[in-house]
Amino acid sequence: MITIPDEIMNFLGKKGGQTLLIKGRAGSGKTILSLSLIKACKNNGIYLSTRVRPDDLYRDCPWIKDQLSKSNIVDATNPLKERIAVQERDFSEVIKYGSKEDFLVALYERVAQLAHPVVVIDSWDAVISNLHTSEERMEKAIIELCKETQTNLILVGEHPEETKLDYLMDGVIALERTRIDDRRLRVIHLVKLRGVEIHQPQYVFTLEDGMFRSFGRFEPRHIDNPKMWIPLPDSEKAFSTGCENLDEILKGGFKRGSLNLFEEELDVSRTAEGYLWRCCLFNFLAQDRGVVLLAGEGVSPQKLKELSVPYVGEEVWNRLVRIGVYDIEETDESYIISVKGTSEERYATWKAVLSELKTKTGQPIQDYTALDTLEFRSGVENTIKKMGRGVRELKNSGDLQIALLKPGLEVSKQIINLAETYFRVRSMYGTALLYGVHPETGFYVIEVDSSKGVPQTKLVPIV
Ligand SMILES: Nc1ncnc2c1ncn2[C@@H]1O[C@H](COP(=O)(O)OP(=O)(O)OP(=O)(O)O)[C@@H](O)[C@H]1O
Ligand SMILES: [Mg+2]
Repeated sequence: MITIPDEIMNFLGKKGGQTLLIKGRAGSGKTILSLSLIKACKNNGIYLSTRVRPDDLYRDCPWIKDQLSKSNIVDATNPLKERIAVQERDFSEVIKYGSKEDFLVALYERVAQLAHPVVVIDSWDAVISNLHTSEERMEKAIIELCKETQTNLILVGEHPEETKLDYLMDGVIALERTRIDDRRLRVIHLVKLRGVEIHQPQYVFTLEDGMFRSFGRFEPRHIDNPKMWIPLPDSEKAFSTGCENLDEILKGGFKRGSLNLFEEELDVSRTAEGYLWRCCLFNFLAQDRGVVLLAGEGVSPQKLKELSVPYVGEEVWNRLVRIGVYDIEETDESYIISVKGTSEERYATWKAVLSELKTKTGQPIQDYTALDTLEFRSGVENTIKKMGRGVRELKNSGDLQIALLKPGLEVSKQIINLAETYFRVRSMYGTALLYGVHPETGFYVIEVDSSKGVPQTKLVPIV
C-alpha cells in the first residue's frame, strides 16, 4: 500500500508543472519514493535511471509497470547495451556523450508524447556530471522546459547539504534514516513546498514491500456498524494476543502462565496501547474467559465498558469482567469491585474475585494490572513482593498476566526481570510506535483497521 503525505499530493496536484527535489543519503528510499509518487499521481511517468537497470526496477517494484512502461524508463546505467530500443538508446547516449542542448531536446521529445507526465531524474547529480555543463544553467533550463510543457519534474539529489538547487525548485523533501532507542526509524522531512500549507513537517515512513508508506497521527476510530469479535485461535503453549501481527512476532502469542509488560508514554501511545490491549481483552471474552483488571489512575471502568460492549455484548461483559477500583463505595454494577483496606486486605479481596471467576468459567483468567497505581498504593517493596508471588502462582495456574509500566517507575527494573515479554509504546510526530525489548524487535507502527467492523490492530514494520 502506497501512502504519501497529503501535503506532497496537494503540491504535485497543482497545475503548471511542479518541480520537486528529493534528497537523502544512499539507501534512504529516494528511488522507491520517486516510483511511488509516479504511481500515486496516476500520471504517466518517464524515469531516467543512472543507478538502477530497468529490469531491476521492475523486479523490486513490480507494481510500477502499469504507469511506467519499459520504453519510458531511460537506462543510463549502460548506454551501449544491445537490447535497448532505438529511441531509448538515443536518449541514453545523449546523457553519456551529449551536450546540454542534446539532452534537453531528447527530453522534450519524450515529454511531448505524453499528457501531463511526471519526469523523474534519478539521480540529477549523475546526469550533471556526465553532461559537462554548467550546473546552474542546466538546472534553470530543465525547470523552464517543465514549466512550459506542464510537466511535473522530480529530481533526485545526492547532496544532503543545501545547494543552489534547493532555491530553484518549488519543493524540497529530505529522507532520513535514523536510529532511536537503537532501532532503525525512517523520517521524511517536508523542507518546503511552495504554495502548500505544511500541516505536519515530518512523517514516519516505511519501505515495506518496496513501496513508500507514510503514517499520520494515531487517531481513535469510530466504528459505525460494530460486529462481534471473532477470536483468533490459541496455540497449545500460548494465548493469542488478539492481534495477528503480534502473534507472529511472539511465535504464537503470550505464553500460558506468563507475565507480559507494556511500557507507555503519556499522550498518543496511551491510546494506541489501549487499542492493542483491548484486542487481547476481546479475544479472552469472546472465548468465554474471565478478565480482571486493576484500574490505573484516570481509567474509567464505564468508559472501558462503553468501548468494549459493541464487540463482546453486555451480558458477557457483566458476567466475565471484574474491574477493581481503589477506595470507592459499593456500586450496583456487578463488574466494578471496590478495593479497600490494608494492603493485605486488598490483596485478599482481589484473589477472591479472581478465584470466583476462574471457578465459574473453568477457564484461564487474564489479569491486567496498572503498575503505577499499584506502586503508588502499595509502595515499591510491596508491589515487587506481590508481583513476584503472582508470577510464581501463574506458573501453576496457567493464567495470563499483562501489566502496564510507565517510564520512571521505581519497580520497573525488578518487574522487568520477572516478565516473559517486554514491549515499549512511544509516539513520534503523533504516530504510535511499538518495539520489543524482549524479544528484541525493530519498530512497528500501530494502526487500527476497522474494515471488518471491529477495531483490529495492525503492526506495520519500519523497514
Ligand atoms: N522490496 C523491498 N522490501 C523491503 N525493503 C525494501 C524493498 N526494496 C527496497 N527496500 C529497502 O529500501 C532501501 C533502498 O531504497 P531505495 O533504493 O529507494 O534507496 P535510494 O535512496 O534510492 O538509494 P541509492 O542512493 O542507493 O539509490 C533498501 O536499502 C531496503 O532497505
Ligand atoms: Mg536510488
